[in-house]
Amino acid sequence: MTFKGFFFGFVAGLATLPVLGYLYLHFGLAPVATSAAPMPMERSLARTALHAAIDRNAPKDSPIQPTEPNLLAGAKQYREHCAVCHGLPGVERTAIAKGEFPQPPELLVGTGVTDDPAGETFWKTKNGIRLTGMPGFGASLSDEQMWQISLMLAKADKLPASVQQELRARP
Ligand code: HEC
Repeated sequence: MTFKGFFFGFVAGLATLPVLGYLYLHFGLAPVATSAAPMPMERSLARTALHAAIDRNAPKDSPIQPTEPNLLAGAKQYREHCAVCHGLPGVERTAIAKGEFPQPPELLVGTGVTDDPAGETFWKTKNGIRLTGMPGFGASLSDEQMWQISLMLAKADKLPASVQQELRARP
């Protein structure tokens, strides 16, 4: 094969890729319902993009300490803004949480985000996670409130009794 033949074949091959992509979307083959299975590689591409952005931008240190009043304030904010999707211990998941794609992880049961630095949770809370149903709270909550929530979630497996009680209290 001549170099020229190879070159034109290669370019023609490349040019068909966007066409195939367009046809996939155009004929309604791509999953758009929250109940549909993820697209090929959707999860790994989304995770790679998210983690790269967080490594670059998430703050490393909290400007406030995880004192009992801060954790308690975090628990109150969590109940108000997060529990509807991320759940409370011993409470059945809401209709909103059940209908989301991807599914919001339980943050107060099991590991939650106790294995993530609080700065990472702060970044996700402030900025949200695009195309997932995870809202950004940067326009509604103060940085202090978002740190209080993030510190509470980082310590969710070893919270003082007063904070556990706040999270277990019935509405
Ligand atoms: C409307 C539903 C909804 C609300 C309300 C919501 N989230 Fe989320 N959240 C999600 C979804 C869905 C995901 C999963 C995103 C994904 O898979 O990438 C998520 C992911 C997260 C994660 C990443 C979890 C992990 O395992 O890495 C954190 C942290 C988080 N949310 C914190 C919060 C906080 C804090 C609040 C309240 C201030 C909140 N979320 C409110 C839907 C919600």
